[in-house]
Amino acid sequence: MANSRSGDSMTTRIVRVLDTFANDRTTQTASEIARRAGLPSSSAHRIIGDLIDAGLLERDDEGRVRLGMRLWELALRGSSALRLRQTALPHMEKVQTVVREHTQLAVLEHDEALFLERLSHPEAGANITRVAGRLPVHASSSGLVLLAFADPVVRERVLSAPLRAVSRETVTDPAALRSLLAGIRRRGHVVATGSIESVSTGVAVPIRDRGEVVAALSAVLPRDADAAPVIPVLTAAAKDIERDLRDSR
Ligand code: PHB
Repeated sequence: MANSRSGDSMTTRIVRVLDTFANDRTTQTASEIARRAGLPSSSAHRIIGDLIDAGLLERDDEGRVRLGMRLWELALRGSSALRLRQTALPHMEKVQTVVREHTQLAVLEHDEALFLERLSHPEAGANITRVAGRLPVHASSSGLVLLAFADPVVRERVLSAPLRAVSRETVTDPAALRSLLAGIRRRGHVVATGSIESVSTGVAVPIRDRGEVVAALSAVLPRDADAAPVIPVLTAAAKDIERDLRDSR
């Protein structure tokens, strides 16, 4: 594959172009993409043109560039995330009717919690989770569950990197976090109050497939809501999802 003068492969350059899109930056001009991807303008324009021809990027009415529908289509085709989301969705809906707050499904991706689904309620409180958005593993309830049951190599990598305080209550001391994670493994759930936003409490439980934790199911409640009745609802839903994952093999 042709490499640029800087030695980057074409694949690397394409990924850098695609990586400039974010949840809060869904459309950009070609020049903005070039600058953010750190690519020479001519090279970025050529790649963007090719990706538009292939349907992986699209131009909107104002000529700005966004991710293409074909990219979404390809990404979902046969992906393990889709199977997980589809299996979990009916059970998340059941949780939703009981808890009447936000219900989320997240997986561990590159040391962060990546959210595959989020259901809300018209009267639900604040929630910064976005579908296809990420939250730090050490600060969100889903992330804490995923980290607690992650491969020890991943856990040690996260624990040895600087742990950013997202709120005043985020646990950033590695020893305290280690003991929090051990507690999650023992109890099978976490109640994280104010860990990511002072106004909310996250409650999360693990979902297993073939004996491994593959996802976290969580509810985001107003800070002072009683989390105790939510734990058995999430735990029962996780068990139902695990059964359906087994049955769909
Ligand atoms: C959490 O999972 O702990 C969480 C997520 C989003 C929020 C608040 C808490 O807005």
